[in-house]
Amino acid sequence: MHDIVSKTDLRAELLGRRAAMPPETRAEAARPIRDALLSVPEVEMAGTIAAYASIADEPDTRSLLFALWKRGTYVLLPRLLPDGDLDWASYEGPDSLVPGAGGCPEPSEPPRGTGAVASADVVLVPAVAVDRTGMRLGRGGGSYDRALARVGPAILTVALLYDGELVRNLPAEPHDRRVRAAVTPSQGLLRLT
Ligand SMILES: Nc1ncnc2c1ncn2[C@@H]1O[C@H](COP(=O)(O)OP(=O)(O)OP(=O)(O)O)[C@@H](O)[C@H]1O
Ligand SMILES: [Mg+2]
Repeated sequence: MHDIVSKTDLRAELLGRRAAMPPETRAEAARPIRDALLSVPEVEMAGTIAAYASIADEPDTRSLLFALWKRGTYVLLPRLLPDGDLDWASYEGPDSLVPGAGGCPEPSEPPRGTGAVASADVVLVPAVAVDRTGMRLGRGGGSYDRALARVGPAILTVALLYDGELVRNLPAEPHDRRVRAAVTPSQGLLRLT
């Protein structure tokens, strides 16, 4: 069914669903997502993880970032560049985040360049939905399509979703990049490719 729906319409529908979720449902999603990710072997083993600080209605990543940092994982977070691309800098705890250009909390540490994402052993990305093949729908800037294009094929890339956001089929354009897995509160990590 999603084949005939435009990305824009689908994105609006999915974001509308998120906005209509009871705040408790949103809040309750953060912990199972965090706990599922913290026990994934690749995440446990990772020296460096590229992640993101959640905004708006996204599943909250604060306690996940904190837990990774506390256990000694080197965490990279994006800084939005004027052209929509993502630069990356080190997360050094909750006090190291400052309000960024696009309204997202961003790391205040020195930027390491757009290519720094390629040094991550695991890459965690936001998404509005992911389909069974790993195709991902984001917020529409193409920022993560650019970042994911720099990540090697063996790297575990994971989109963080609420229940119901893993869908059968998403529209895709040539620039769209797949993720290898998704994590949801009820199902934990789902490997897709
Ligand atoms: N590699 C790229 N270089 C330049 N622009 C790009 C690239 N990839 C995507 N874009 C631009 O971004 C726009 C939005 O892309 P798309 O709808 O796939 O975003 P998205 O995947 O939903 O968002 P995001 O990846 O930021 O979460 C595209 O119309 C395209 O012009
Ligand atoms: Mg895309």
